[in-house]
Amino acid sequence: MTHPDAARAGTFTIGGDLAVARLGFGAMRITGPGIWGPPRDRAEALTTLRRIPELGINFIDTADSYGPNVSEELIREALHPYGGRVHIATKAGLRRPGPDAWQPHGDPDYLVRQAHGSRDRLGVDQIDLWQLHRIDPAVPRGAQFAAVRMLLDTGVIRHAGLSQVTVEEIEAARRVFPVSTVQNLYNLADRSSEDVLDHCERHGIGFIPWFPLASGKLAGKGTLLDRIASGHGASPGQIALAWLLKRSPVILPIPGTGQVAHLEENVGAADIALRDEEFAALDEAARG
Ligand SMILES: NC(=O)c1ccc[n+]([C@@H]2O[C@H](COP(=O)([O-])OP(=O)(O)OC[C@H]3O[C@@H](n4cnc5c(N)ncnc54)[C@H](OP(=O)(O)O)[C@@H]3O)[C@@H](O)[C@H]2O)c1
Repeated sequence: MTHPDAARAGTFTIGGDLAVARLGFGAMRITGPGIWGPPRDRAEALTTLRRIPELGINFIDTADSYGPNVSEELIREALHPYGGRVHIATKAGLRRPGPDAWQPHGDPDYLVRQAHGSRDRLGVDQIDLWQLHRIDPAVPRGAQFAAVRMLLDTGVIRHAGLSQVTVEEIEAARRVFPVSTVQNLYNLADRSSEDVLDHCERHGIGFIPWFPLASGKLAGKGTLLDRIASGHGASPGQIALAWLLKRSPVILPIPGTGQVAHLEENVGAADIALRDEEFAALDEAARG
């Protein structure tokens, strides 16, 4: 078996100057149940993180709210000094009252404070990519975008992105700062952000689909997805990732796990080339 290598998924250049392998890692799952507190198996989470650069992954997505702080702190413990081997994207804009609870909080001072906190926790001079986790409907969005602009202008962050947004919101934000990435729920089974993806592709904005491994009703024994996976000697999850990689050159999936074996399996998706007819059949089955 060849060594799994995320580089074989190709590259996407964030904001025109930050080239990363088009298969990254989502660091939400290296926390405790409900994305709260430390992970059950801390040693395995650290081993998983340390394996990332060895597999050609050089893009990690995290957030201040994962744990909170736990994910960023573990990334630093496992991989600092990064030495250019990995680029870390983080976010703020969601507060955590407890396990599985998330509250938008878009007060501009809070956003700026949280970005500074992430920079310290990650141990970097500048955050490579910082994303507004949610636009808080209770705060004028212009004030939230102005905070992002200030973080860019003061060099706290190198590139900025948005999460869970509409095309209209992307365009409103683009009038205030360059939007380098958009992170929305998107996978084979949930295509509610299709218009956002197309918009990102037209404008060279990176599209980071979260929950990329999900395949909804396509999952299960004997389904089309199962048969296509068997044909490639692959798992259904690997096919779901391969489908995303083929869907658009601006897509940058970030499957997440706290287990080394799962990480290695997920990177294996970089070697799966779906045939056009397989891609189309999965598309049709998912829509039907
Ligand atoms: N912007 C947002 O609002 C937002 C929301 C959610 C997530 N995200 C980001 O997106 C990333 C990915 O999203 P996600 O974690 O929800 O979805 P995901 O990566 O599609 O799925 C993760 C789940 O699948 C399991 N898993 C991973 N690889 C596996 C494998 N090879 N075999 C079997 N199970 C496997 C994981 O458990 P194990 O740990 O047991 O492997 C975990 O329960 C997150 O890490 C986070 O960075 C962003």
